Amino acid sequence: MGLQQSRLNNALQIRTGDQRESSTDSNVYVILHDTSETKSERILLDNWCRNDFKIGALDTFNIKLPDSFTEVSKIEIWTEPCSFELTSSNWYIDTIKFVRRFRGESVMFPVFRWIKPNLHYYIHPWDTFLPQNDPDEKQREGEIDQKREIYKMKYAEGAPVLCESLPIDEEFSAKYMWNMLTNKLDVILRGIYTRIIADSWKTLDDLTNVYHEEKLTEPESVKFWREDTWFGYQRLNGCNPTVITLCEEIPSKLGVDDEVLKPVLKGETLEDLIKKKRLFYTDLEILEGITHREDLDMCAPIGLFMLNSEDDLVPIALQLKQQKGPDNPIFLPTDDHYLWTLAKMWYNLADSSFHQSLVHLGLTHLLMEGVILAMHRNISVSHPLYKLLAPHTLFLLAINSRGFKKLVSPGGWVDKTMTIGIEGMFQLIYKGVQLWDFSIDGNLPKEFARRKVDDPKVLPKYYFRDDSLALYNCILKYVSNYIDVYYEADSDVIEDWELQNWAECISKEPKPEDGGIGIKGLPIKDGKGHIPSKEELKLFITTVLFTCSVSHAHANFLQYEEYAFPANYPSMIRTPLLKDKNPRQEEDLIAALPDKATTLDVMAITSLLSAKTTKSLGDFETQYIYDPKAVPCVKKFQINLKAISDNIRKRNKTLAKAYNVLDPVNIPNAISI
Ligand SMILES: [Fe+2]
Repeated sequence: MGLQQSRLNNALQIRTGDQRESSTDSNVYVILHDTSETKSERILLDNWCRNDFKIGALDTFNIKLPDSFTEVSKIEIWTEPCSFELTSSNWYIDTIKFVRRFRGESVMFPVFRWIKPNLHYYIHPWDTFLPQNDPDEKQREGEIDQKREIYKMKYAEGAPVLCESLPIDEEFSAKYMWNMLTNKLDVILRGIYTRIIADSWKTLDDLTNVYHEEKLTEPESVKFWREDTWFGYQRLNGCNPTVITLCEEIPSKLGVDDEVLKPVLKGETLEDLIKKKRLFYTDLEILEGITHREDLDMCAPIGLFMLNSEDDLVPIALQLKQQKGPDNPIFLPTDDHYLWTLAKMWYNLADSSFHQSLVHLGLTHLLMEGVILAMHRNISVSHPLYKLLAPHTLFLLAINSRGFKKLVSPGGWVDKTMTIGIEGMFQLIYKGVQLWDFSIDGNLPKEFARRKVDDPKVLPKYYFRDDSLALYNCILKYVSNYIDVYYEADSDVIEDWELQNWAECISKEPKPEDGGIGIKGLPIKDGKGHIPSKEELKLFITTVLFTCSVSHAHANFLQYEEYAFPANYPSMIRTPLLKDKNPRQEEDLIAALPDKATTLDVMAITSLLSAKTTKSLGDFETQYIYDPKAVPCVKKFQINLKAISDNIRKRNKTLAKAYNVLDPVNIPNAISI
């Protein structure tokens, strides 16, 4: 061992990004700076007879350093187009690792940026600074300016703010399954299309004949859909578990009293149930006045529910329209069986329209597109909050831009399979996003408290609440630990101008010139969005991370289970809205259901959308956090998630039907599908 050996035993390992156009043929130079202001000579990174810096490649270069070189403090890197290059291209670096082999040490430099020709970039170990502490303020400002050119905001009347065009960095990677999945689906569809058309479809049981293919398996709802306990379970643990509310007073617009409900209350009174906290209601008033397909009916129902002696939630009355009236009867479980079943289907038509438009698309996919777009326009890649949130933004803009263009376009899947149609869907999304509030809807404990269902003793089988609260608290702890690493005091938060610009952009009115995203509920100072403290920052970031992961998972991954059997959760009903209580027949149910081709479309797309193709929460596709001070936060987060997973599995062993959609292993990090 000697000086000579130490000189030869240093290496740089450079990982080029795997997105389109990320490679380079330019000459790449580095200068390494140390902590004592010594620096290396200019080093050309070139492996003899090798084509370096291809897409996704890891290239290693041995480098010589001066004898006096101490600890590396930053890497200066730049490219110069070589003579045979016709055009000078940009190069995207994921990471640089500096390895001192003889000491067995290495230092990571997460780069995650485009390197433009002839510009010198200075990257520090772990590259994580608040803007007020960044030694390269000018580089940082320049990069944010560039990002604003790429992540442009698109404003349209009556629609949430979206990204104007999809940046290269946001495209699906070659590894992603989207294309593979859609191709596979075509094969499946071709296989079953012949049979579904050939089969007769005369009874409800005939419907289940289609569930024999390897992929389109029979959803469990086929077994339960007629049961009232299942209808109650859907309100608690289905696709849309966000509406059920403790009833402390019968809403005046709901035409029920003890007399009307006498056949179902079995000796109890509404007052008794209210006192015992066993009465609940749902109100889908937000659907009132929303456009829908002209040839089909829609409703905006109210449901009344009670806990039975088994602690199961069961419906005791359904009113399909908001205003009382002779053509708006109260439907009861003691009514004619087919009439009551149809009433539940009408309720579920409204619920599925609400779910798909708001719970899923509006309040996860599109709401988060605005928040993340504002993040890219204001937060540097060197910012600790960027490093924290980046894994949770994976493919969000891509799925919104590429995926939903196919589904939510005029004459597309939504128009073909949903009564609400895209016009109504966008009206509802806009209405819901405008009402959504960071401080209440985004704060899960407050959201449950508002509906008075936060107490675990109230609604003991509300597994969505139990699991999502456990996950919210776990994410809050992770975010808090991480934020404590970088922000010592509230003043650090106030002085973080990138964060404050982000908050201002989220809160500002959505207007074409210098406008914002228009989401309310962040703290306001001098008329602008402003994060005043570490506590507020922790809540804000927790909401973003939670919405991108947990909220989307529960809204997304039960789609096939719920929708694939249309009588269970119809997205379309073909017959007119129920306006009387005359008995009905099985034929009336069959006539109400979508035709075979529409059913097949629903099955196919919900199957595709319910597939998890990315890694699980806490297990990131790309590691952004390398700072030794912050890495333990991630490790602790992973341990806590494992504990939640274990608890959910233990609980599920005691249930007749497992609730596992919020088991952390089933939750992706981001809204990628
Ligand atoms: Fe989704």
